Amino acid sequence: MAVNKLVHVNESGLPLNAIEWLERHHFSKIREREQMIRDIRLKRGSYVVDAGCGPGLWIPLLARAIDPLGHILGVDLSPEALVTAQRRSQRMVQYKLGTLEHLPVKPGTVDIIFSANVSQYLPDPVATFAAMGRYLVPGGRLAIKDIDFGTMRFHNIDTGLQARVFQARQRWEQLRLAAGYTFEDSWVGSKLAGYLQAAGYEEIQERSYRIVRRYPLSKDFRFYLQGIAEWFVSEGAPFLDGENLTNWLQCFLDGERCVLDQYTFVSEETEFVVTGVWNKPYPAPVSFFDMSARPLEEALV
Ligand SMILES: C[S@@+](CC[C@H](N)C(=O)[O-])C[C@H]1O[C@@H](n2cnc3c(N)ncnc32)[C@H](O)[C@@H]1O
Repeated sequence: MAVNKLVHVNESGLPLNAIEWLERHHFSKIREREQMIRDIRLKRGSYVVDAGCGPGLWIPLLARAIDPLGHILGVDLSPEALVTAQRRSQRMVQYKLGTLEHLPVKPGTVDIIFSANVSQYLPDPVATFAAMGRYLVPGGRLAIKDIDFGTMRFHNIDTGLQARVFQARQRWEQLRLAAGYTFEDSWVGSKLAGYLQAAGYEEIQERSYRIVRRYPLSKDFRFYLQGIAEWFVSEGAPFLDGENLTNWLQCFLDGERCVLDQYTFVSEETEFVVTGVWNKPYPAPVSFFDMSARPLEEALV
């Protein structure tokens, strides 16, 4: 029963990034996600970049917060996601192809860069967050939202089985890069505050959101959990034996032993939103007289 394939991949091969999966995941947690945006306290009229916007699911929440004079730019490296985002687009929103490290905007112009569920794919999050700072106005904010699967619990599944599956996946995440897979850190949420601080942000604030769902589950949350459960043991699950793997999948997939259909089912996880303020001015252009202060190659980029 091993899941050797990748689950819910997008066109660049990222698992759990297919558009339908992102949409159903988003709407299954919409209450908490609306609260996350309210807690960021965006100012009306702000210029916001949604970095790694995917199919644009957070855009309506951001737009509501900055209406009527604000402006949003959605940026992603996936053309397929941007085309989908464009379809549900609103006045005041533009989309552009780009990366977090090289945003297609003028340095020193953005009030807030928001980024959800992307930091887990950054091999060097401190360097990326530091690079994003230069696009912010002095005093501008970076807001990073992400998961942390170390916080996940299922209350009617044997705790030993859960621990073995989670440990096996965590161990595999540390090694899968060497096996040719893209980088992932699904335990990133609780590390974000430290990363923002190391990247040079100030006034760091961390908020955690406990997401609890009980039987009977919505169709979207059931779909989300089944995807997550398969993903935990995907890519051949090299550090899990066959018996644990079969037991785990039987808990989640439709059938007699499916725990999702038991009235005792409770799922719990915590997601994190961390904000930090960027107070470093974007370096002024180097004048002729300053040329000796920096190497020429650096001054010319
Ligand atoms: C899990 S999806 C999240 C999409 C959306 N933010 C959401 O929460 O629904 C991750 C997205 O990040 C994009 N992505 C990953 N690494 C990126 C990078 N370095 N720069 C820009 N986008 C990136 C992927 O293409 C994908 O659309």
